[in-house]
Amino acid sequence: TINGPKKSTLNAHLPPPPLYLSTKNTHSKTPTNLDEIPGPTNWPLVGSLFELLRKGGLTRQHEALVDYHKKFGKIFRMKLGSFESVHIGAPCLLEALYRKEGNYPQRLEIKPWKAYRDLRDEAYGLLILEGKDWQRVRSAFQQKLMKPTEVVKLDGKINEVLVDFVGRIGNISNNGKIEDLYFELNKWSFETICLVLYGKRFGLLQEKVNEEAMNFITAVKTMMSTFGMMMVTPVELHKSLNTKTWQHHTAAWDRIFSTGASLSPDDLIGDILHQSSLSKKELYAAITELQIGGVETTANSMLWVIFNLSRNPSAQRKLLQEIREIVPPDQDPSGEHIKNMPYLKACLKESMRLSPSVPFTSRTLDKDTVLGDYAIPKGTVLMINSHALGSNEEYFDDGKQFKPERWLRENNTINPFAHVPFGIGKRMCIGRRLAELQLQLAMCWLVRDYEIVATDNEPLDVIHSGLLVPNRELPVAFIRR
Ligand code: HEM
Repeated sequence: TINGPKKSTLNAHLPPPPLYLSTKNTHSKTPTNLDEIPGPTNWPLVGSLFELLRKGGLTRQHEALVDYHKKFGKIFRMKLGSFESVHIGAPCLLEALYRKEGNYPQRLEIKPWKAYRDLRDEAYGLLILEGKDWQRVRSAFQQKLMKPTEVVKLDGKINEVLVDFVGRIGNISNNGKIEDLYFELNKWSFETICLVLYGKRFGLLQEKVNEEAMNFITAVKTMMSTFGMMMVTPVELHKSLNTKTWQHHTAAWDRIFSTGASLSPDDLIGDILHQSSLSKKELYAAITELQIGGVETTANSMLWVIFNLSRNPSAQRKLLQEIREIVPPDQDPSGEHIKNMPYLKACLKESMRLSPSVPFTSRTLDKDTVLGDYAIPKGTVLMINSHALGSNEEYFDDGKQFKPERWLRENNTINPFAHVPFGIGKRMCIGRRLAELQLQLAMCWLVRDYEIVATDNEPLDVIHSGLLVPNRELPVAFIRR
């Protein structure tokens, strides 16, 4: 069986479920049904598509969704073309969902991704698998990737790449500025995940880099930026008309899958291959999707950490102080050191709250479910908006400010369901612990060696491109300490 990885935080300290979470409806009030849930304009055929386009289009959807939560409250219903979803942005509703989750929680079906695999006869990985097949593959990876005592052992490999990364920052910077920092972070992240999974270095942080891995990174970006359109318009239509979107999307997947095929499983993957009953094809698809899930998300989160530290020098000073107190100057930071670094952990949490990488995840309900006052039928797609939760002043005082201290207050009353950057329950991010360790160690190395300074203080516009990204080069410089 699968233990929900975040049980320690999301389960251990929770009181028994309140009555309103009971599967039976014990409310005196009749629950509101789907049709009565408020929402933006719902025109025939297009739903709210035009309204969303007027608000800035798909690249601004995260802002529109925050606005809708402000306007309609903790739950609203929206239709984009043929795609209907119910958006939840309140901890009590997330908790209700979590408590009622079945054995095989399901995310929204990503048809364009399945269409590619069906076209090329490839297997599905964790991002798109469902039911018992999902559970089988998840179990094969769960132990190695989610057990804290296993993950902490990866610190040596993570550090090996970080030594090169911090060195490279010094070598390629021009007055402390790095051209395309995001791409550099993607290379770092790819190099780390591949070393962890395959036990092999790619040399991505060297002067002359491996074309194959570079290709992978750009292909993931293309794949991510082309699938949104095929989620709101029928993928079959794109396929039969062979639209540019479909062509770019499939070409990107071809490049992604060909990278995986060129690697031979060793190390962590080798262990899993020997210990599990997965076929090579299944394993190969699963690893490809681990890389997709892990590379850009981790790079993106690090980008936002760097940005937030640059704009908050006093937090950065405090962080440096903690690093100097805990990690002796002649030692590499380790997983053991991190355990004694509450401020570092709080800085990461705060950065992920204020500047989340993945703004929302989803669930497709596999049974009729009462969430709070709402009766929601089986088959409904729920969008869980961690971006809207993190920016809601009701759950975070002074929410626009970067305040790591909020996580460290005695009697901190932050509801654990108000901060879900890795999702919730059994289907939560499987790379969470690896990503956290990687980011925490990277923060130690970077801040110990460099002062991260802001090169301007203009607002930074954020756009949605699969992940939330800044719309210009990050205004930061790295000054060697
Ligand atoms: C800071 C970095 C990361 C963030 C913010 C992030 C975020 C997420 C989120 C929000 C989900 C959806 C969870 C849900 O629906 O409840 C997810 C799923 C997933 N992530 Fe991550 N992730 C990160 C790093 C990683 C890494 C390093 C890996 C791989 C080693 C990874 C692999 C996956 C996979 C395979 C899934 C699907 C899991 C399943 O459905 O069983 N992620 N991630």
